[in-house]
Amino acid sequence: MRVQVLIIGAGPAGLLLGQCLLREGIDALILESRSREYVLGRIRAGVLESATVALLERLGVAGRLHAEGLAHEGFDIAFAGERLRIDLAALTGRSVTVYGQTEITKDLMDARDAAGGKTSYEVSDVAIEGFDTDHPRVTYTHKGNSQSIDCDFICGCDGFHGVSRASVPPAAIRLYERVYPFGWMGVLSDTPPVHDELIYVSHERGFALCSQRSRTRSRYYVQCPLSEQVDEWPDERFWAELRRRLPGEAAKTLATGPSIEKSIAPLRSFVAEPLRFGRLFLAGDAAHIVPPTGAKGLNLAASDVYYLAEALVGFYKEKSIVKMDQYSARALSRVWKAERFSWWMTKLLHRFPEEGEFGRRMQLAELEYIAGSRAAQTALAENYVGLPY
Ligand code: APR
Ligand code: PHB
Repeated sequence: MRVQVLIIGAGPAGLLLGQCLLREGIDALILESRSREYVLGRIRAGVLESATVALLERLGVAGRLHAEGLAHEGFDIAFAGERLRIDLAALTGRSVTVYGQTEITKDLMDARDAAGGKTSYEVSDVAIEGFDTDHPRVTYTHKGNSQSIDCDFICGCDGFHGVSRASVPPAAIRLYERVYPFGWMGVLSDTPPVHDELIYVSHERGFALCSQRSRTRSRYYVQCPLSEQVDEWPDERFWAELRRRLPGEAAKTLATGPSIEKSIAPLRSFVAEPLRFGRLFLAGDAAHIVPPTGAKGLNLAASDVYYLAEALVGFYKEKSIVKMDQYSARALSRVWKAERFSWWMTKLLHRFPEEGEFGRRMQLAELEYIAGSRAAQTALAENYVGLPY
């Protein structure tokens, strides 16, 4: 069999790219190792930059986002008993949208099915061949049958643990990584959010975050040691610890209830360079990981796809390889800025015991500085709403 573009992975990156190519009439197949239900069942973040919303609008998949998403014109940072509101709208003229990654994945899957887009779920043994030649090929097993697909290009959108980056010879790729010595214990609950905007908390006992999915569903996180297990955190312990880290008013009004999802996420900064190897392209988590503190993971997958779609459309529609040759540099330029912002937010808001009391005073001094400086708040806000493509 043959397609023009073979996409590996039906996460946000693969589905977004699939939608871009569908709209341009470029023939593509998506291979996904998990079932559709499993992919949809993953609980991930949900703060969208204005540029990501614009891309979803352009792709015709923003209907439900506009109907159910929540526009947030600011967020709070709580520290040392203070609550500082970062007024995104006043500082940048832009806002972010709270709309779960699960919902975006569902909207993209529905749009793909409606347009007759080809997706094979529950494939296995995916292997990539010849991406350094003009005849790349992907082999895999589907429903017990081994399959082989010839294509012009392979787009590795298969996440951090995928086969695509792993198929690149070590000598051809540079990896940059920072692993943080703690995790995020996250709880999803059908309780009304403690506040109508997000609250990022810097506390002696560690970081906390109050986020939401809707007016009736909340998402909370507390910084926890990586050595701890989920079963060491019964709901009561989670709510008690969160309440201890919240500023006065929020601690009083926090509505608690049974968790409907609970998990620990490790924190990592990771970048692979370059993002193109002959006819193989990497996008999304296959190429880079950010700690969730800056809410950049999904938005970086979107900007990668924006540049990659331009490259493929340039090749097929304008017979030009200019944007294809520029893809890696364009995508990585934005990736590194988002990596810096996510690393900086993580350093600013989490407890690093090894940094000692001096480290803590540096954090508090920086937070005080931000509280008193419009310039510092503007820098924070413009990174949070998303830097231009
Ligand atoms: N063959 C086929 N599919 C694979 C393979 C493989 N060998 N390995 C992984 N996959 C699939 C996974 O099952 C997953 O559905 O690739 C998909 C990758 O999706 P994500 O991990 O969600 O990565 P991406 O699409 O880049 O989205 C990045 O997801 O993790 C969040 O914070 C992250 O928001 C960011 C977004
Ligand atoms: C979330 O809603 O899950 C969320 C929001 C903001 C973040 C990280 C996660 O920075």
